[in-house]
Formats: sequence, structure tokens, C-alpha cells
Amino acid sequence: MSIENAISIADLRILAKKRLPKMVFDYIDGGADDEITLARNISRFRDRSLVWRALTDISVIDTNAKVMGAQSALPFFISPTASSRLFSPKGGEIAVAKAAEKFGIPYSISTIGSTSIEDVAAATKGPKFFQIYVWKDRGVVKDIIARVKAAGFDGIILTVDVPVAGNRERDPRNKFTIPPKPNLSVITQMLSRPAYLMDMVSSGKIDAANFKHIKTDGGGIIEFINNQFDRTVTWKDAEWMRKEWGGNFAIKGISTAKDAQNCLDIGTDAVWISNHGGRQLDTSPATIDTLPAIAEQVKGRAEIILDGGIRRGTDIVKALAMGATSVAIGRAYLYGLGAAGQIGVERALEILKSELLRDMALCGAKNISEITRELVV
Ligand SMILES: Cc1cc2nc3c(=O)[nH]c(=O)nc-3n(C[C@H](O)[C@H](O)[C@H](O)COP(=O)(O)O)c2cc1C
Repeated sequence: MSIENAISIADLRILAKKRLPKMVFDYIDGGADDEITLARNISRFRDRSLVWRALTDISVIDTNAKVMGAQSALPFFISPTASSRLFSPKGGEIAVAKAAEKFGIPYSISTIGSTSIEDVAAATKGPKFFQIYVWKDRGVVKDIIARVKAAGFDGIILTVDVPVAGNRERDPRNKFTIPPKPNLSVITQMLSRPAYLMDMVSSGKIDAANFKHIKTDGGGIIEFINNQFDRTVTWKDAEWMRKEWGGNFAIKGISTAKDAQNCLDIGTDAVWISNHGGRQLDTSPATIDTLPAIAEQVKGRAEIILDGGIRRGTDIVKALAMGATSVAIGRAYLYGLGAAGQIGVERALEILKSELLRDMALCGAKNISEITRELVV
């Protein structure tokens, strides 16, 4: 199957599996512990049914939405994911940002991205957000926020579901770390994917581009994160960060109505429901199951972004119908990136866009505000 012939996100997953070394594919595809939450995020969308409004005029379908205050041509956008150059050594973050710009949707770069804030800013004029954690060293955080401001980013996303790294068992089984350290297992996996290996060898070293100046004590990024994470972080620190930034601010990794209220109390612009794609606390609920109580609490006082398990246009419709103002996608575009770089991400976005347009038409919804609660039963 070629990238042009991939007609679903599941097809892109198959292509990514073919192109990427096992450890890299598993790093994208896997989750924490027994991967119960990872599977649930997907299956709980499928457990829900959609009904339609018959005989409505759907001659023109308008998919425009707002994401963290920014205009988006579609109600879905790019969720931050670590180290894109690992999945496409030449393409990396820039490939994803360019694909997002083509589709008129926001791009988010991860704190542990493999391309710098400044290089991403130079590559795209589209809306872009920076994802951040609260590090031990507030000086580092201030410095990063100043760089994000200077580069003209449109928002900051504070991720709060990683007080410590999740237990992703596929990684140690594959003897995999970020960046990969050469060992027999890693070398064997690399050699079995010559096209990827060539791509990697002919492009520069993959590292945490925004923290090149920080010493990682010879350990991988996971150790680096564990070392830098401040386990004493509270809502006060989130509030401090929101003020330090002063612009559009989302808190990513919310699972309860109580925490949604905490977000509102500190003036968060967007409450972002996420369980990190099932990569953190396993057996936590599917994000779509936590949405109703959170939407009830927020009552339109902030945007609600939801991610986790979005693989189909119908998933997007269900999340919007149940109270999300937009959804973020992770693996859906990463499979495309791993399969074919920028062209693969574009294919992923095209698939989701055409599914969404068709599903809105089938539901009798000609714009986002017509995707309402009674469509989900
Ligand atoms: C490979 C990978 C790396 C990720 N890295 C980050 C990250 O650095 N920061 C972050 O906030 N979320 C990260 N996430 C979580 C995503 O932003 C998002 O919450 C999740 O992928 C959504 O689930 P989905 O993959 O089922 O769409 C990562 C997810 C994946 C799959």
C-alpha cells in the first residue's frame, strides 16, 4: 500500500509499522502498563452511537472553530508530541507544522521537541502553541517563556499529567531510550529498516533542541524529565506560569470536574481533557467518559479541548457533541509522519477532514454549533 492509497488512520498505522524500527513504532503506538486506558480511549468512542437530523440543508458545511482563541479551519489540531525527528529524522517538527499550516489548523510543539522554538517559528506562519512543564529551576521556565514570546507563539499549554514518567513497558523491552543509545537490540532493529536508517544517518543528531544548554548527566530524556520535574508543583505554580506568560493558556491533562474548576479559578483559557493518550496512569478513564461532568462544570466559561483516541471523523463529532470546543490529535498524525514525513501528516489530516465533512453531512450539521448533544445516544 502506498501513502496515496491509505484511506484510513488505521492504514497509516500499518505503513508506519512497515517503515519504522520496532522500538520507534512502539514508542508511538504504546501506552502505560497494560495499555488499558490506551485501548479504552478508542473503544469508548466506538461504544457511543450517533443519530442524525433528517432533511436538513447541508449544501455548505462550515468547519471553522476556535482553538485557544486562535482561528482554526477545522475543529481538530496538532497535539504536542515529543521528538518528532525520531519518527521522521529529516521532516520532524517542521514537517508537521507545515502540514498543519496547509490545513489552516494550529500546531503545538512539545517541550521535548527535537526542533527549536525559533526554527518552528521561522517555518510556519500558522497559529502555534508551546507545551511546557513546570521545571525545578524556575529560571529555565522563565527563559523558555521569554523565547516563546519572542518567537511569536499564540499560546502556552501546561501539561499536568506527568508528575513522573509513565511506565511504558514496550520501551525497556525494546531496549529503547530517547535519544536511542546504541546496543545490539537497537542496532538490529535499525538495520531491519534501511530507508529509515539512511534518513537518520543523513540528518543531524536528534536531541531535545530547546535544552541543548542543559546537561542531562549522560542519561536519556526520561531521566532528564524525572530529574527536572518538581514534585512539589501545585495550582499556585500553574497560576504563576499563567501570569508570567500573560497570553492564551491551556492546562492539559485534566480528568475531573474539580480540576476543571481549579483551571477556571486561575483564569485558564482552555481546559484540556487528556490522559496523555494512555501513556501515564493506566486504568484511568477514557477521556470521552470524563467529558460530560467537566462540560457541566465549565458551562462555557472556558474552551474545552479533548484528546485521546481520535481516529475517525465520528470520534470528533462525538467529542464536540458532548461539550468539547475542539479536539487534539496525537497518534493519528504521528502514524502519518512515521509512514512518510510531511506527505504522511497531510494524508492523515486529509483523511480526518474528509471523514469529518462526510459525518457532519450525515448527521445534518452544517457547522460546529449544530453538532449538539442529542446527536449522541
Ligand atoms: C509519541 C508520543 C509522544 C508524546 N509526547 C508528549 C509531550 O511531549 N507532551 C505532551 O503534553 N503530550 C505528549 N503526548 C500526548 C499527546 O499530546 C496526546 O495527549 C495524545 O497523543 C492523545 O492521544 P492519541 O494519541 O490517542 O490521539 C505524546 C503522545 C505520543 C503518542
